[in-house]
Amino acid sequence: METILRVTREHAFDYPIVWAADFASLAGHIADLHLSCAKVCVVTDSHVEKLYAESLLSALPEDIHADLFVFPAGEEQKNLDTVNELYYFLIEKKYSRKDILVALGGGVVGDLTGYAAATYLRGIDFIQVPTTLLAQVDSSVGGKTGVDFRQFKNMIGAFHQPRMVYMNMSTLSTLDDVLFSCGMGEVLKTGLIRNAALYRWLDEQRSAIMERRPETLAYMIRECCKVKSGVVERDPKEQGERAILNLGHTIGHAVEKLKDFSLPHGHCVGVGTVAAAWLSVQRGLLEQKDLAWIEEMNRIYGLPNRVEELSAEKVLEATKLDKKAANGRVRFILLDRIGNAVIDDTVTDEEILAAIRYIGDRDSSACAGTRRK
Ligand code: GLY
Repeated sequence: METILRVTREHAFDYPIVWAADFASLAGHIADLHLSCAKVCVVTDSHVEKLYAESLLSALPEDIHADLFVFPAGEEQKNLDTVNELYYFLIEKKYSRKDILVALGGGVVGDLTGYAAATYLRGIDFIQVPTTLLAQVDSSVGGKTGVDFRQFKNMIGAFHQPRMVYMNMSTLSTLDDVLFSCGMGEVLKTGLIRNAALYRWLDEQRSAIMERRPETLAYMIRECCKVKSGVVERDPKEQGERAILNLGHTIGHAVEKLKDFSLPHGHCVGVGTVAAAWLSVQRGLLEQKDLAWIEEMNRIYGLPNRVEELSAEKVLEATKLDKKAANGRVRFILLDRIGNAVIDDTVTDEEILAAIRYIGDRDSSACAGTRRK
């Protein structure tokens, strides 16, 4: 079942995304990269370590020395203190510029390891081995790396493309339902911004997807990576088009921060997408029936459409602190139809407040409460 997609931008980067049933072909794919490394440091968190560290370590090429660096699982670990620990580990073990890092885990592991790779000795190579749906369809592809800084999400980072993304599809079988729904938030986003046919397919295939049929999930993830890699090839450093990948993220990140990271990221993005779609309807870009469809799809895939106890003014204030706000002006991603996102810099504070009030409605059954940390 192994398949490969290449992400290529002439003179800048060229790397394969590999879909495999297990880790058996990893060593062969690393050999194909013709790296001259003597050492590889696998970076993972305490949760993924228990599940996959051993099988990944035993699948690495025998002639390369391997180390394992593990940090405690959780978004609150995605900071410069953890990066400092990793730097110190690499220095103590005498990692050179030729050696490589392997990020084994979800978005936190991938972003943090990528940032350490971008900055250690002014940049070393790294490989992404994403084990969550969210990381497989979004964060492992495209070279965005970084960490949170105090209460600011992804505020410190670098663009640093991986040398390979290797997806062992069997890792999805151990994903809990909340993490699976978070990944589905990014999948739905991908259809909404650039691929209406994928969005329709996600509606038709709801049973097979929720049953996590491997061939259905493999097709779905490949389609998402095709969209994402196309956007990244055209605009690797988010000078323009790449911003559409942030549909739902402006209000989503603000909600996430105000709820003190007690709601999962994917759920905040899901509800942020509803706010963006509602705004698109008010602007006359999107039809009311499409907003209803977006909310139905959120319900099907376990994502909330509303959030309890939101102060619209505080959410608005938080959107202005987002790193993507230029001069206090919020950049918004709207939909002019299902399958096409547009960038808009003219959304007013009044419009944003009204959109936040819409998702703050208490009447809905699909409402995200506060989850204990
Ligand atoms: N997750 C958004 C991006 O990679 O640009």
